[in-house]
Amino acid sequence: MIITLVGYMGCGKSTIGKVLAEKINYKFIDLDHYIETVERKSIKEIFSEYGEIKFRTIERKYLEKLLQNKKNHVVSLGGGTPIFHENMDFINMHSYSIYLYLKPEDLTNRLISQLDKRPLISHISTYSDLLEFIKKHLFERNPFYMKARLIYKVEKKTIENISLDLQKQIKKIIE
Ligand code: S3P
Repeated sequence: MIITLVGYMGCGKSTIGKVLAEKINYKFIDLDHYIETVERKSIKEIFSEYGEIKFRTIERKYLEKLLQNKKNHVVSLGGGTPIFHENMDFINMHSYSIYLYLKPEDLTNRLISQLDKRPLISHISTYSDLLEFIKKHLFERNPFYMKARLIYKVEKKTIENISLDLQKQIKKIIE
């Protein structure tokens, strides 16, 4: 069984994924990190050298590799992974998907200090512009994220509590 975590940038996919994987005795992989290791380039470099369209093709290739070959893994996906190439259907065919929902205000608070590392929002400089961008972007992306098997509201819970909650909710599926 593979558990995939989907959701907007900054919702905590990798942090939660690592803790959840430990709890259920699964291995953990972050798709972006996997791409960076195999391609020997950062996501930022891939975006600036090849552009977003090429990045989405590369992302699909590694998504297939992971979901078709791994067992007993928690995989955190990129924020845009479910949006392109009908990936969300593929994700649901090969894994149990969980959408980690966080509201735009909370996402903005988390992302405002990380703008330069994130190609899609690096052109933004103020809090209010970022909030506006995220509200619109999340509105467009939500229909894809909402196809996940489990919708989980992250809110202001600790990583430990979130992971315990998720562990309880997926118990039947992983047994
Ligand atoms: C993206 C999210 C990033 C990364 C890339 C594009 C997106 O992943 O894949 O910068 O389209 O939302 P994280 O959600 O892990 O930050």
